[in-house]
Amino acid sequence: MTTYLFPPDFWWGTAVSATQIEGAADRDGKGKNIWDHWYEIEPNRFFNEVGPAKTSQFYDRYKDDIALMKKLGHTSFRFSISWSRLIPAGNGAVNEKAVQFYDQVIDELLAAGITPFVNLFHFDMPMAMQKIGGFENREVAYAFARYAEICFTHFGDRVKTWFTHNEPIVPVEGGYLYEFHYPKVVDFKRAVQVGYHTMLSSALAIERYRRLGQGGKIGIILNLTPSYPRAEENERDVEAAKLADAFFNRSFLDPSVKGTFPQELVAILKQYGLMPHVEEGDKAVISGNTVDLLGVNYYQPRRVKAKETPIGDGPLMPGTFFDSYDMPGKKINPHRGWEIYEKGIYDLLMNIKDHYGNIECFISENGMGVEGEEKFRDEAGVIQDDYRIEFISNHLRWLHKALTEGANVKGYHLWTFMDNWSWTNAYKNRYGFVSVDLEKDGKRTVKKSGWWFKTVIENNGF
Ligand code: BG6
Repeated sequence: MTTYLFPPDFWWGTAVSATQIEGAADRDGKGKNIWDHWYEIEPNRFFNEVGPAKTSQFYDRYKDDIALMKKLGHTSFRFSISWSRLIPAGNGAVNEKAVQFYDQVIDELLAAGITPFVNLFHFDMPMAMQKIGGFENREVAYAFARYAEICFTHFGDRVKTWFTHNEPIVPVEGGYLYEFHYPKVVDFKRAVQVGYHTMLSSALAIERYRRLGQGGKIGIILNLTPSYPRAEENERDVEAAKLADAFFNRSFLDPSVKGTFPQELVAILKQYGLMPHVEEGDKAVISGNTVDLLGVNYYQPRRVKAKETPIGDGPLMPGTFFDSYDMPGKKINPHRGWEIYEKGIYDLLMNIKDHYGNIECFISENGMGVEGEEKFRDEAGVIQDDYRIEFISNHLRWLHKALTEGANVKGYHLWTFMDNWSWTNAYKNRYGFVSVDLEKDGKRTVKKSGWWFKTVIENNGF
């Protein structure tokens, strides 16, 4: 049996986000965010009509949850701060109760020997900010930077690993292209503006972090989808895959790490009248404030083929420029419909090594969402999720190969610690190491994979 050993200081843990686990959405002075609002006006858009107020009660149970993380051997843990909990109006007064809550969470983690990784924005735009346009409005980029600075000032003495955004392309796609996030707009040009201001907000926050001189690191978390052409020998397919890479990966990866936007993407945006409004000085802010480290969320690859029909007069979308390719025989997670391609993690890490200066990085999310996991619960009450163990170990093997070939990859965080509320899918797909029984007041039970991961951490390998 081959053994996969990882470096002694490898970061083992999980990731969560505020809206998905905290609950208490209308308590202790929290302001509304877009999820609270959307659920209020359209509850039927959410699986089983479960809304963001009913998430896994971390707000009330963080002590026990952190104790469980410790028991499972976590060395690090990523959570996000809820902007609308900390600053209910987005750009006004600070909610002291929120400061206390996050203080306690951080202190509890440190006391448990778990390094807190803190992310500032995980899809949860405060409603007051959305009312003035969200990231479509430049002012919101500055409000975000102010919020970030408030976080650094309050928590930066203890938090030394920060992230500005999680998967910044997702609110752009969901909110402004494909209608799976609020405000459900479909408009490519506006989407580009939102993406641009999100990137600007990240650089502005990094600038403020460095100015404070707190001696930690600041990065961004990107969902990278390696793009593979239908046929390597078909030049047009290869071109299409490169374009998909520019749209979906390099659009945020290049400015975050290199401080520049991909030229081929800019050329297309110019050609089709999609360029965002840019102000003088932005270029210097973006190029001068690149990240110290990169979180990579990897779930699935993208299979691409050349456009089969000419680019017509229809509404412009990223998919106007290439077609997706439904590769026969691919392995699929039947619950989420996402392809499982473990080698993708290796390809991403080697790409970062070879083309992004081998910047320090880690796998900040990877995971498998499964519907109806209750049927795998055994008589002792433990969910026998062997499929998740297989999923993780197969990915870790490829991660390990990248490590041995020199990739600067420092850790692996699973999505997620405990079953949580996943946006419009609510509790449909379960991802956690720990099950949460919604019927029994959120009772936590460690799944087989959680105990298995504990041994991986103890042995620093498997
Ligand atoms: C990532 C997000 O995209 O994937 C998480 O950072 C999300 O917030 C996770 O929950 C799994 O995706 P989903 O849509 O199945 O919940």
